[in-house]
Amino acid sequence: MSNFDFSDFTKTSIDSIGAKASPRVKEVMPILLRKLHEFLVEADVTHEEMMAAFDLLVKAGQVSDDKRNEILLIFDILGVESLVDALDQTRPARKGGKTTEASPSAILGPFYRYGVPEQPNGTTIIRQDEPDAPYTHLYGTIYDGDGKPLPNAVVDIWHDAPDGLYDAQTPEKPEYHCRGRFRTDENGRYDTVCLRPTPYPIPYDHQAGQLLTMMDRHPYRPAHIHYWIEADGHRTLVSQIFDRESDYLTDDAVFAVKDKLIVDFKPIPKDYVPPKGLEGKMKYELEQDFRLERV
Ligand code: DHB
Ligand code: FE
Repeated sequence: MSNFDFSDFTKTSIDSIGAKASPRVKEVMPILLRKLHEFLVEADVTHEEMMAAFDLLVKAGQVSDDKRNEILLIFDILGVESLVDALDQTRPARKGGKTTEASPSAILGPFYRYGVPEQPNGTTIIRQDEPDAPYTHLYGTIYDGDGKPLPNAVVDIWHDAPDGLYDAQTPEKPEYHCRGRFRTDENGRYDTVCLRPTPYPIPYDHQAGQLLTMMDRHPYRPAHIHYWIEADGHRTLVSQIFDRESDYLTDDAVFAVKDKLIVDFKPIPKDYVPPKGLEGKMKYELEQDFRLERV
């Protein structure tokens, strides 16, 4: 096979795409085939290596369910979700439109949950006592594309518990611990009590962990709080904020940190009145605004 022509081979596979394929498939698949074949040739991949990769993906599929998406974890540690997020946020500007006026986005990650019930502003998302944990007053304003406060926006917030685990990973804890959904009031404001989060390893007990070990990498993410903000007539904003004092800001396992999303937790003011039951527990406050853009 010394005269096997790799470029002919790739062309044949691209030419096999049929006329009835959708325009997007016709656009995307030739690029994918070209790059994929290029990779195989350049890396000189063996059959054994290919089967090991397939085996990893099959096993990742087998450990996945609606609470755990190992495939997403694998692609996150390869930077795929962060890169796609950056593409999404810069697409209008790259296509000749205007730069987005929305706050910076960040990846969704594997722990978003659909259908979380709304709760009133001023109530906490800490659903079981966390002794000695840094309780935090988290509040802010959501602005619209013109910079005006936006009432009636839905604000989903979730972060890890002090043990570094999300609610879906700890079914023995109360439902939606460290997670809640709010609706901005007539002044565009949301208001809750959460915890100042802790750095957290992405789940590394399965194939994503194997891949990290293979590359001699650690599984940690800097301390962060997730947001999903949606409002009628506006593009949904998925983002995260990162604690400036956290480790791993410069080596996030999933490459999601952006400078503008690094925030400072401040000591709780003396005159803050916490929700009932949290007297004496409050340590920090964080005022965190976001701006959406019109669709
Ligand atoms: C990932 C993202 C997270 O926010 C997290 O807590 C764990 C994993 C991820 O992108 O894989
Ligand atoms: Fe997270």
